[in-house]
Amino acid sequence: MNERTRIAVAGATGRLGRHLVDVLEERGHEVVPMSRSLGVDVVTAEGLAEALKGVETVIDAASHPTPDEGPATEFFIASTRNLQELGAQSGVKQIVVVSIIGIDDFSAGFLAAKKVHEREMLRGPIPVQVLRAAQFHEFVEPLVGWTPRENGVAYLPNMRTQLVAARTVAEALVDLATEASSMPTLNGSRIPEIAGPRAETLVDVAALLAARRGESVRFEGVTNPADPDGALYENGGLLPGPDATLAGPTYADWLEREARA
Ligand SMILES: NC(=O)c1ccc[n+]([C@@H]2O[C@H](COP(=O)([O-])OP(=O)(O)OC[C@H]3O[C@@H](n4cnc5c(N)ncnc54)[C@H](OP(=O)(O)O)[C@@H]3O)[C@@H](O)[C@H]2O)c1
Repeated sequence: MNERTRIAVAGATGRLGRHLVDVLEERGHEVVPMSRSLGVDVVTAEGLAEALKGVETVIDAASHPTPDEGPATEFFIASTRNLQELGAQSGVKQIVVVSIIGIDDFSAGFLAAKKVHEREMLRGPIPVQVLRAAQFHEFVEPLVGWTPRENGVAYLPNMRTQLVAARTVAEALVDLATEASSMPTLNGSRIPEIAGPRAETLVDVAALLAARRGESVRFEGVTNPADPDGALYENGGLLPGPDATLAGPTYADWLEREARA
């Protein structure tokens, strides 16, 4: 499927979605950007049937604005039902979904909601390809921003992650969406993964970000004893498997480039 096709991007204004739109346009595809701010709501279905007219492929990068498990689960159930049902009525041939590395082992929070997202998507009727990604470089800033500071110290969750640039994930998703691909799905064997070049701790990358901004803050890692998945975050539950695609830039190089841009 290398020829020019009409591809809809759900969540087209998000951290990932804006790169998806850029990559698709650079490669000459006709893009239908979808988000509430663009008049298309995948949860209420407002504007969705109209947007999906003539669309061959949907890339689903829409996301609930908060990480809470209940509302995020409801979001993904509703968005999946609408994309699958209205997509099928419009003749959509495939949906490409971005998910998160490691979710099988997690029992709570946003990662549990993403398991429901994958499961509901793979029920069809439209064929689905899933790509699981590591946390984005772009996600460090909001994670750090949400953290309260006391006397110049910010307490972040002890978390290991193999951060990847959203642009890099977007390129891989567009490859999946536009090339005849034999990537496996949940029903077959493992799901493909994409991550950055090396594992980092959230505390270390937060310190890089603060240093780049000239902020004087010290970061300390903490474990939340109430989180049933706390040990998984700390012990590599979010890290990619041996078959993952690893692609740069590193977080440090990405920060450098962003500062120059
Ligand atoms: N962030 C990460 O580190 C990371 C890592 C791996 C995988 N992922 C996955 O990548 C996907 C995108 O994540 P992201 O960080 O790019 O999300 P994001 O920055 O929060 O963007 C979410 C997008 O969804 C849109 N949206 C929200 N509610 C909508 C609705 N009801 N109807 C239509 N559009 C809606 C938003 O635009 P409007 O507000 O205008 O509607 C926005 O364009 C998610 O599936 C996430 O699980 C994220």
